[in-house]
Amino acid sequence: MACDRRMLLGVGALALALAAGPALALDAKIPVAVIGGGNIGGTIGGLWVKAGHPVMFASRHPDDLKPLVDQLGPLARAGTVEQALAFGDAVLIAVPYKAYPEIGQAYRGLLKDKIVLDAGNATKARDGDLAAEAESAGIGATSAKYLPGARLVRAFNAANYRLFAQNAHRAGAPMAVPIAGDDRQALGVAAALVRDAGFEPVVVGGLNTARKFQMGSAGFGHDATAADARKAFGVAE
Ligand SMILES: NC(=O)c1ccc[n+]([C@@H]2O[C@H](COP(=O)([O-])OP(=O)(O)OC[C@H]3O[C@@H](n4cnc5c(N)ncnc54)[C@H](OP(=O)(O)O)[C@@H]3O)[C@@H](O)[C@H]2O)c1
Repeated sequence: MACDRRMLLGVGALALALAAGPALALDAKIPVAVIGGGNIGGTIGGLWVKAGHPVMFASRHPDDLKPLVDQLGPLARAGTVEQALAFGDAVLIAVPYKAYPEIGQAYRGLLKDKIVLDAGNATKARDGDLAAEAESAGIGATSAKYLPGARLVRAFNAANYRLFAQNAHRAGAPMAVPIAGDDRQALGVAAALVRDAGFEPVVVGGLNTARKFQMGSAGFGHDATAADARKAFGVAE
């Protein structure tokens, strides 16, 4: 019964966010899958749990995620990638970029039409040739190539996890989180989840504009207010 109610609330909130586009905050909680329970997945997923979202964290070794979910309490659980993708109405991908091709292929069916917040950055040392591909094609196009069918929104990639942990729900003007995507409804859900984590979303534009805040770009690595971020990215309120 509780589960049915949670599902209804979740679906209702999702429908509202889908209808309203980028401006809305979720007034109820949706189940979220966090693929990768390390620095960035653990931090952002933990903020969603604290905001009341049920979150399933996943990795290749879900048993290793037990300390994380135990510490976060009953809204947090750990599972396989398959279980988490089935669980979440929205997904945060927070794994090393080199895992994208394999994840996109292995879970193609579950990722199809899924709203996916994509936090990955590609670095040469860790991710090899994918870093050069992301540099030349743009990180948005590269993610879309390896996660085909997902409704992608680049989000939470542009700052260190420690900065997110420190600045979530800070006093005064919130820290801006630049986001970019082609799917308006997915942008709406992502924006609401950015707010629920304690930040202010700044929609930079379509997925190709994720270049403006990919690793190595001028828009990467800032702790800015939304007003300053909008000015820097040249986007309107
Ligand atoms: N660290 C930051 O401050 C930061 C900030 C913004 C963006 N990012 C980006 O976020 C991504 C994750 O970075 P991180 O620092 O959080 O890494 P991390 O601490 O090393 O955590 C990576 C997580 O992904 C899991 N994982 C790895 N390969 C997987 C696969 N094939 N399938 C499922 N799960 C897998 C790992 O668990 P198992 O190995 O047990 O599977 C682990 O839970 C990277 O792309 C990074 O560039 C990081």
